[in-house]
Amino acid sequence: MKKFDLTNQYCLITGAAGLLGNEHALALLNIGANLILTDLNYAKLKKNSQNIIKKNANKNKIILLKMDVSDENSIENVVQKINKKNIFVSVLINNAALNPKVEKNTEKFTRLEHFNTKDFLKECKIGLLGALLCSIKFGTIMAKKNRGVILNISSDLSVISPDQRLYTKKGIKANNQPVKPVSYSIIKSGLVGLTRYVSTYWADKNVRCNCLSPGGVENNQNIIFKKRLSKLIPAGRMAKKDEYHGAIQFLCSDSSSYLNGQNIVMDGGRSVW
Ligand SMILES: NC(=O)c1ccc[n+]([C@@H]2O[C@H](COP(=O)([O-])OP(=O)(O)OC[C@H]3O[C@@H](n4cnc5c(N)ncnc54)[C@H](O)[C@@H]3O)[C@@H](O)[C@H]2O)c1
Repeated sequence: MKKFDLTNQYCLITGAAGLLGNEHALALLNIGANLILTDLNYAKLKKNSQNIIKKNANKNKIILLKMDVSDENSIENVVQKINKKNIFVSVLINNAALNPKVEKNTEKFTRLEHFNTKDFLKECKIGLLGALLCSIKFGTIMAKKNRGVILNISSDLSVISPDQRLYTKKGIKANNQPVKPVSYSIIKSGLVGLTRYVSTYWADKNVRCNCLSPGGVENNQNIIFKKRLSKLIPAGRMAKKDEYHGAIQFLCSDSSSYLNGQNIVMDGGRSVW
């Protein structure tokens, strides 16, 4: 178990106030890591991190910071604050994204025919450019220190197309049915490309970069959606929110020291069917 140990190491998570960001934090805390939890929404971060702070006797192990991954100045600000504390971030998890919940909303999400460039660019700035900017800022420091791990959080939609039949609503014409937007597929597939690029770019500096592609997590979605999706998954169900802990611990620690540039698809087998 020694190779899983992250004692005295600082791990920074983006979008840490969200459903999975909170779980990544718990997973890393459980293997001894110090945490820098960041999110655009600081109030939500403070509120949602209470469970983690309670679990941790030594408050100095957890730092909460506001950071907008789509804004270079905001990232630089965080880098400066961390430098002042003499902290070296040896693990970065690029987790922040706009995660469109199509099953909960019929009108907001556009079909290809109604493609909206502004929305597309907004999502790309967070989910893709944000991961690139954080990788550059923190990866450069890691490369100088000759050590580091970058983990991008993608989705099973990095390897399969969304099955739009999951989102169909009764009483809506076929041409108006809600769909998962194309932006999500492009961003999540793009993260795999970013992973490969970064993994070789700093390979000689001992900086590894991998990607985790989770399947859908159960989170109070409507029952029809859940039933439809479960039928597409060999495991017969969606993931529980804590089922990625083991993967996070493996991918962020030395236990995966010979893994680099890979996209680990953890989706209950959905993409195999
Ligand atoms: N939940 C799932 O079922 C699922 C499945 C596969 C992949 N994923 C991926 O996992 C990651 C986390 O998903 P989640 O379900 O926890 O999402 P979430 O919406 O619960 O959390 C995302 C967090 O990102 C933050 N955020 C938004 N814009 C930001 C910005 N500009 N800068 C910094 N933070 C910003 C939000 O405030 C939010 O706290 C995402 O990349 C998502 O695509 C989620």
